[in-house]
Order: sequence, then structure tokens, then C-alpha cells
Amino acid sequence: MSIINLKKIIDKLEETGDLSDCEFMELLESTDAETASYLAGKAAAVREKYYGKDVYLRGLIEFTNYCKNNCKYCGIRCGNKNAERYRLSHEDILSCCDIGYNLGFRTFVLQGGEDPYFDDDRLTAIVADIKKNHPDCAVTLSVGELERESYQRLFDAGADRYLLRHETADKAHYEMLHPKEMSYDHRMQCLKDLHDIGYQVGCGMMVGSPYQKTEHLLKDLRFLQEFKPEMVGIGPFIPHHDTEFAECSAGTADMTLKLLSIIRLILPDVLLPATTALGTIDPFGREKGIQAGANVVMPNLSPGNVREKYLLYDNKICTGDEAAECIRCMTARVEKVGYRVVQSRGDHVKFS
Ligand code: SAM
Ligand code: FES
Repeated sequence: MSIINLKKIIDKLEETGDLSDCEFMELLESTDAETASYLAGKAAAVREKYYGKDVYLRGLIEFTNYCKNNCKYCGIRCGNKNAERYRLSHEDILSCCDIGYNLGFRTFVLQGGEDPYFDDDRLTAIVADIKKNHPDCAVTLSVGELERESYQRLFDAGADRYLLRHETADKAHYEMLHPKEMSYDHRMQCLKDLHDIGYQVGCGMMVGSPYQKTEHLLKDLRFLQEFKPEMVGIGPFIPHHDTEFAECSAGTADMTLKLLSIIRLILPDVLLPATTALGTIDPFGREKGIQAGANVVMPNLSPGNVREKYLLYDNKICTGDEAAECIRCMTARVEKVGYRVVQSRGDHVKFS
């Protein structure tokens, strides 16, 4: 398709938030820089209309790398006997939040493997203490698939948001990426439960994961349109040397940026992070992500001595920096491309 026609498709996406399957496929498969830059420009304009130049900060606390799951792509899956395991204590987690609060963070994201040690009692106590110590902050959880009752207890304890990537909206593709014990239907049910309970919910997929086809990405976009998440976390798949996908190619920054822009146009008020994986695949990936429509960054607040152990994929950036250094670096990067980091909870706002 000619660049002129692709630009017409992008104009239609901007105006209506939707395209036919064929049009989405054309856009996803386009490879020229001019189309990508036109798309990013439209996405940046829409993001500025709703959120101005503001970029929200989330302080990421990777509090355990124990996991009972064995996702085929993931460096901390239980089958990786070379991963050096760690758990942060209740006090360590609270102290990460105190440090983060003093650095200006007003959202804490507790992320970890599915670690049975952190049962409902332990997790709810942590959430309640963070909310007691920092009532003006939001708590986001990203601890995988739980029973609805557990999600409810955590919500009642004060958790505001939940990140659970759907990974791929194609069941057969999901089954190629996960062991047979894991269920696509259960993951989707979890997302629905989280929304029903009242969380601000984030889903998302890896870009360029093994066996991924353009048709799968189309299904991901249709799923996002239907589910209407408040947040969408996407990043390139990056191989980890101790997984069966070690020799697979990584997803590309270009495709990730294109998808960020498309997602901004189909969900104009969504909270959209420029992820660490994007910054790993391209040294200016996070800046480019912001310029392509993202409005969130997630600097790492985990203590320095565990950073290198939360290795989902190879060559992960920022494993050597302290929290203060991470926020200084992120702020400078954001400002360099004309945006500003703001000190606020950065809740999802429904504009329409
Ligand atoms: N256990 C929680 C869960 O499953 O949602 C949260 C932790 S999990 C490590 C967070 C995300 O990391 C996953 O949803 C996946 O998309 C991403 N991830 C894992 N391995 C990756 C890889 N090799 N490349 C890129 N992203 C990866
Ligand atoms: Fe559980 Fe990756 S397999 S966090």
C-alpha cells in the first residue's frame, strides 16, 4: 500500500479509534519510516490533548523472584535452576517505599513471580502498611494469577491497580508460550475479575514473542478495544539464555513503537508505559516510546543487591543503579525530549 493510503488509514484511526481488520494488518505490516513517524506524531498529539506533557512515575519494587510457574520465555521461571532466588522482607518493601516517597514517587508497583510464600495474609499486610504510611500514594500489584477472593482481599486492603499482561490474545499462541499447566481462559478470567472488583487494570503483550504473527497482534488490538483496560504494558520479547527460547530473535523497537502509537489512538486516555524492555532493546527506546504516545515510566526502586537477580531476559538495563540515580536519569531523559516528570499518583482519567 502507498504511503498516502497508509496516512489516510492513520487519519481514520485518529478520528474513529477503529479500523477494519485489513486496515490494521496493512498498518502493522508497514515498514517505512515515514508512516511510522506520521503515526507517532498523531499518537503524541492525542496523548498531549489528554495528558499534556506530563509523564507519570511508577516506582517498581521487584520483591520476589521465586515463581511457581514455568512460562517458557521467562528467566525467573521455576524450571531455571540457575536463577539465584531472593525475597524482600516486609520491612525491606516498606523501606523501598519510604525511599521512593522521598524521591517523589506517588505510585508503588509491587511485582514478583507467583510466590506462594506471599500468601493473602502477608500480601494484604504489606499493602495495608504501605497505604497507612503513605495514604496519598497508589499501590499497584503485579503478582500474577490469583483466585478472585484473593484479589478482593487485596483490593479491600487498599490496592488500587493490578497489572496482568494477557501476553497474547490467541489461545493457541498462548499455549505455545506456556506449559500445559497454565490456562489462557484462566488468565482472561483473572482480568475480568480484577475489573469487576474495581481495580484499574493493566493488560498487555510481548511484541515479537516466539511464533507471533501479525494476526496475533490484530487479535491483541481487538482484545484491547473490547476489554478497555486502564493501562497497557507492552514491550519487546527479549530472549533469556536459560530458557528454551534462548536462540529466538527478540522483538523490535520499531514494532513496539508502532504498537504504542496504535494503542494510544484506539484507547486515547490509556496509561501507557515506555518499558524497561524497550529501553533494553534500544538505548533511546524509552524516549522514543514517550514520543510515540507513552506517558508512564517505571524506574526501579528495588534494592541494589537484588536487581541483577530479577532477570526476566538478558542484558536488562538499570540493574546497577540506585533508586536516586534511576530517577535522576529518567527525569533527564524525559526532559530531553520535551516532556516533564510529575509528582502525582497519575490515576487513569476517563475523558469520554
Ligand atoms: N508474575 C507476574 C505475572 O505473571 O504477571 C508478574 C511478573 S512477570 C515476570 C511480568 C512480565 O514480564 C510478564 O507479563 C511478561 O510479559 C514479561 N516478560 C517475562 N519474560 C520476558 C522476556 N523474556 N522478554 C520480555 N518480557 C518478558
Ligand atoms: Fe513466573 Fe516469569 S514464570 S514470573
